[in-house]
Amino acid sequence: MMSKALAGRDLLRMADLSAEEVALIIDTALEEKAAWEAGVRDKPLAGMAVALVFEKPSVRTRVSFEVACARLGATPIVLSGPESAFSRGETVADTARVLERYCDAIVLRTFAHGKVEEVASWASVPVVNSLSDDHHPCQGLADMLTVREHLGKLEGVGFAYVGDGNNMAHTYLEAGALTGMDVRIASPEGFEPSADIVAGAERLAARTGASVRVMRDPFDAVRGAQVVAADTWASMGQEDEHAERLALFEPYRVDADLMAAASEGAVFMHCLPAHRGEEVTDEVIDGPASVVFDEAENRLHAQLALLKLLLG
Ligand code: CP
Ligand code: NVA
Repeated sequence: MMSKALAGRDLLRMADLSAEEVALIIDTALEEKAAWEAGVRDKPLAGMAVALVFEKPSVRTRVSFEVACARLGATPIVLSGPESAFSRGETVADTARVLERYCDAIVLRTFAHGKVEEVASWASVPVVNSLSDDHHPCQGLADMLTVREHLGKLEGVGFAYVGDGNNMAHTYLEAGALTGMDVRIASPEGFEPSADIVAGAERLAARTGASVRVMRDPFDAVRGAQVVAADTWASMGQEDEHAERLALFEPYRVDADLMAAASEGAVFMHCLPAHRGEEVTDEVIDGPASVVFDEAENRLHAQLALLKLLLG
C-alpha cells in the first residue's frame, strides 16, 4: 500500500515524507540488504535509466547511486562537472523536459535548493535531491537506517548535532521531528540553522511527539544523547570561509571530552567527508563509538530502497 504512495513521488527534503514513509524506506532497505547478502540477484528496475546530475563533487553519493542502479538493473547516466546537464545556458525547464524523455528518475546535486524544486516542477519523473545547500535527504535516510540498526529504534533517541547549521543540521531537524527523536542542535552564533526550517521542524515535532531544540553550548546538546553527529565546518561552496570558520568553530570539535558527556554507549556519526582534527578528532572517528563506515555503506541500501519504491 505504502509503496504505491511513494511511486512517482519526488524527494527534495526529509519533510516531503511522512513518518510511515521513512519507516517503509528503512524497512525496505533492511530487507534488500538481507536479500543481497542471501544471494538474491533480481533486477526489478531492468530497462530503466536514472540521470545522476552532479554540480558539486561527490564520492559516496555518486558511487552508492551507481551501485544501487546496477543492483536494481537500471542504467545510471552520470552528468557531472562541466558536462553537468544544467551548465550549458539552456533553461532548467528545457533540460528537465529533455532528461525525462530518456530517464525514469532525475537525481540532482546542486547549490541553491530552489533549483532542485524548479527541476521537480518541470519533470514528470521522480526527482531526488542528492544534496543542495539546504537539504541532504538521501543522507538523512541512510542516517536514520544507521540509528535503527545500532540503537534498535528512532523514537525517543537523543540525537545531538554540533557545528554548522547547514544542510545536515536541517536534514536532522526534519528527520528527527518526523521520527519522534529528541533532536538538539548546537551551533556558533551566526551559524544557526535556518529559522524557517527550525519552525517547520517544531510544527512537525508537535504532531509526532518529537522534540527539537536549538542551542549554543555543544555540551548541553550532547548531554544524555545516544547519537553525536558532526559535519564539515565549511560546506561545498564555502571554501573561501574555511580559515575564518576554523577559529569560530573550535569549541564544536567532537573530541573524547565531548563524547564523554553523551550517554554511555553513544555512537558518533558523520556523513563524510570528514576533516580530521577539525570537526572531529582521529580518536573519536577511529574509536569504538564511531559508526561512520556503516553510515556510508547505508547510503547504498537506503537509496536502493528509495529508487525501488519511487520507480517500482
Ligand atoms: N556524504 C556525502 O554525501 O558524501 P559525498 O559528498 O562524497 O557524496
Ligand atoms: N555539509 C556538507 C555535506 C557533505 C556531504 C556539504 O554540503 O558540503
